[in-house]
Amino acid sequence: SPVAVTVNVDTSRPGPVIERDIYGQFAEHLGRGIYEGVWVGEKSKIPNTNGYRNDVVAALKKIRVPSVRWPGGCFADEYDWRDGIGPRDKRPVRVNTHWGGVTEDNAFGTHEFLNFVELIGAEAYVAGNMGSMDPLEMGRWVEYMTSDSQSSLANERRKNGRDKPWKIKYFGVGNESWGCGGNMRPEYSADLHKRYQTFVKAPREMGMKKIATGANVDDYRFTEVLMDRARRQMDGLSLHHYTFTTSWEEKGKATGFAEPQWASVFKNALRMEELVSKHSAIMDKYDPEKRVGLFVDEWGTWYEQEPGSTPGFLYQQNSLRDAHVAALTLNIFHRHTDRVKQAAIAQMVNVLQAMILTDKEKMVLTPTYHLFDMYVPFQGATPYPATVSKARYTSGGIDLPMVDVSAARATDGGLWLSLTNLDPNRAARVTTNLSGSASGRLLTAQAMDAHNTFDNPNAVRPVPYSATSTGGKLAFDLPAKAIAVVKVTP
Ligand code: AHR
Repeated sequence: SPVAVTVNVDTSRPGPVIERDIYGQFAEHLGRGIYEGVWVGEKSKIPNTNGYRNDVVAALKKIRVPSVRWPGGCFADEYDWRDGIGPRDKRPVRVNTHWGGVTEDNAFGTHEFLNFVELIGAEAYVAGNMGSMDPLEMGRWVEYMTSDSQSSLANERRKNGRDKPWKIKYFGVGNESWGCGGNMRPEYSADLHKRYQTFVKAPREMGMKKIATGANVDDYRFTEVLMDRARRQMDGLSLHHYTFTTSWEEKGKATGFAEPQWASVFKNALRMEELVSKHSAIMDKYDPEKRVGLFVDEWGTWYEQEPGSTPGFLYQQNSLRDAHVAALTLNIFHRHTDRVKQAAIAQMVNVLQAMILTDKEKMVLTPTYHLFDMYVPFQGATPYPATVSKARYTSGGIDLPMVDVSAARATDGGLWLSLTNLDPNRAARVTTNLSGSASGRLLTAQAMDAHNTFDNPNAVRPVPYSATSTGGKLAFDLPAKAIAVVKVTP
């Protein structure tokens, strides 16, 4: 029989708005993330518009991607923006030393990226190179992209096909300076941030926000030092947290896993709650008015790459388990909207926890894509605190809350509720303090590792779902390992 669970939503205590940008995507020059995943070139047989594949563009528009972070990642700190402008056949060919040692022909550069985000209706989050270039170059890149003057750089942009400046919403001053971005101490990173950002100047009316490269996982000292020394020179501070099955050394398999690995992935993903809370507490100490946003601009699952795929390309399958990770993580962000102002899942297409997988002309939408699609009403919504009674899911010594919940008032005035049942074996009977009717969509499957393939692209997809009413209160029959997102109509 189903486990009885009670959910209480407190609509009298609305929280700060869920910034749309927490639904951001990360797209690096890595594997087939950009090339093939987004860009195929105008001459490709794959249907495209100005070189961008039509199927991927349409899929991304549907989930209303708010912002895209580019060009890295580690790639950002060895990227020379000048390599990616001007006639494509004249652009230099470089070696992508981080990701597979493959050649990078720079066919996708500044124009291709910024026109792409405009095409899908998203904002640009450009990550600059603080690790291996001069601050003068960082400033010049920003001038090239954003200046409406008659400067030589602005005119060079015009000559290259773009008259009006692009809008850059976010500019990242480096990436992972503690690692691939330069192996720096936080003290040095704080000093460099202050120096580099001095020369990054977009027109004031653009309101471009500067983001400092921040901590890895639980490196609280990094956040402490950056906030202590450089908070006045930043609008956001980044945090990166990846979910492995066990650890960096034991990443585990994307599919073909057993229940202990189902549970351990959730345990590691749920660590985001502790990380966001503790990094926020440090930020509160230095910035009580909460001016500086916490930008979780890399998060997601990271498994062993698919057997047979190119080494260094980080190509992995994506299962129902990943959709649950996405729900748990987004719910955590919904609970911390006072500080978390942007986030980016790693990565958008063909890399790590991707929305979309491609195989040449074929495309498949992953369970994580469907979860993002179901969560669209939460973009820009006003969250409410919600509590769940103490039902637990335990497996192999891991003890987790069985049901996770998120509730918010969407911009159209509707009340939306998300319910996530982590237990792969037991259904829940969820009773709530809400009344009326509720309907929406449910995502689940028979197997824990159910996933979509090019031969079977619809193995995991949302189905219509609605609540039953008991005693005037809304109740839900939530199957095992299911995620439901519903709109409540009073
Ligand atoms: O997303 C893959 C890599 O993970 C990024 O390039 C880097 O920033 C992080 O370590």
